[in-house]
Amino acid sequence: MALFNLKKLLSRKDTVRLLDELTESLSTNVCIVSASGVVLYGNCNGYPPVLPDHPDHPGLPDFANMAGFPIIADGQAVGWVHGDDRKANAIVSVVNHMVKTEMEKKALATETLDKYNELTMLYDFVEKVNTFNVKEIANFLIKQVLVQIRADNASIMLENETTGLLETIAASGTYFDPMMPLKPGTGIAGSVMLAGKAEIINDCLSDPRYIVGRNKISSLICAPIKAKEKTIGVVNASTIKPNNYTADDLKFFSTLVTQAAFAIDNARLYENLKKAFIKTVNTLAETIEKRDPYTGGHTKRVMNYSVAIAEELGIGDKDRERLELASILHDIGKIGVSDKVLLKTSKLTDEEFDEIKKHPVYGEEILSYIENLDDIIPGIKSHHERFDGKGYPEGLRGDEIDLIARIIAVADSFDAMTSDRPYRKGLSFDVALGELRKCSGTQFDSKVVDAFFEAHKNHKIKLENDKQ
Ligand SMILES: [Fe+2]
Repeated sequence: MALFNLKKLLSRKDTVRLLDELTESLSTNVCIVSASGVVLYGNCNGYPPVLPDHPDHPGLPDFANMAGFPIIADGQAVGWVHGDDRKANAIVSVVNHMVKTEMEKKALATETLDKYNELTMLYDFVEKVNTFNVKEIANFLIKQVLVQIRADNASIMLENETTGLLETIAASGTYFDPMMPLKPGTGIAGSVMLAGKAEIINDCLSDPRYIVGRNKISSLICAPIKAKEKTIGVVNASTIKPNNYTADDLKFFSTLVTQAAFAIDNARLYENLKKAFIKTVNTLAETIEKRDPYTGGHTKRVMNYSVAIAEELGIGDKDRERLELASILHDIGKIGVSDKVLLKTSKLTDEEFDEIKKHPVYGEEILSYIENLDDIIPGIKSHHERFDGKGYPEGLRGDEIDLIARIIAVADSFDAMTSDRPYRKGLSFDVALGELRKCSGTQFDSKVVDAFFEAHKNHKIKLENDKQ
């Protein structure tokens, strides 16, 4: 295991502030040096009186071999505290506690990192290979079909990997009539899917397989989308008036479809990976949540509420992904809060509440160890900020607070209000809605609260269904 980085800990502003306060309240001076004798904190000039110069730092005493109070990490002395015996002893115990906490956090982050690494590597790789999602590719293909082939309508149907049905995922055209999901083998599209062979049908009405929809079509080209020898869907191009599609049309059409097939397959793989990634993050969040049995299911509900709000706000795909991860991991910093405080069922003292209030910052620290998750940190660090600037940890206000955090704040508070606790029963759904409205514009961004109400109106937020 790599040696603990005492220098990093002692160069942090909060550590320095704590040590300054401690030394001041104890009316003492201490000097902290690394295992190799480099001064990391305090004024060591003239103390202790006679020591040779440090070999790398002429003019400063070499503390390396001088007995002080050891700072221990993983069974080894990583530094020393020098000063008045009694008071330095008190200070070293504080530093040792900080080192221990820091190491625990680091170990947890490393474990988390391992879990992520394999997935993020794949995730990044596929993202580089193909940045479009299935819908974007499908819409692009349809535009090409409509421009390049004489067609009034074009559509793409893909096999649903769970149900096995052929579903229309993108369509465009003057008279497009959305098709119900088809069983492979049903209708012309279904039979092309099953046979894996493209077809031209210039007179659909006389084809017994043709399922007449709301808008009749006359001529159709239908080609299978094949990926790795497997047919995964079909592409249709059709005209309202009779047309004479030729073998050349079919050849061109098939070339277009073959090119898109590879991209669609990649995009599907990427989307499945994304799902697996989010599932892993979820498992991690649930493991953390198990520490506090009273909040069971909280993470999942906060994510569901957050996503419902985001849909109403119409936020983009990238931000939506950020929101999903940030909402799942919003309370990850609670692993830095002691069980005594976290699991306390009676009223918290001010000091205990102050400890709880550190969890957004702990969350930021933990995530800073994990690559690729930097962009979700603001959502986690600021989820207890208030729109009017009275929140914590930084007292940010309005748009200074990341939108993701403003969304999580509403979702998190709503779930906290409606959940039972050992010392109180959760509020009813309607009362909690009233509370949200009351705090709109002060605690919460009114735009986000409005979106929550809109999502509720559109049946995207259901208390009982979301509760586990
Ligand atoms: Fe929180």
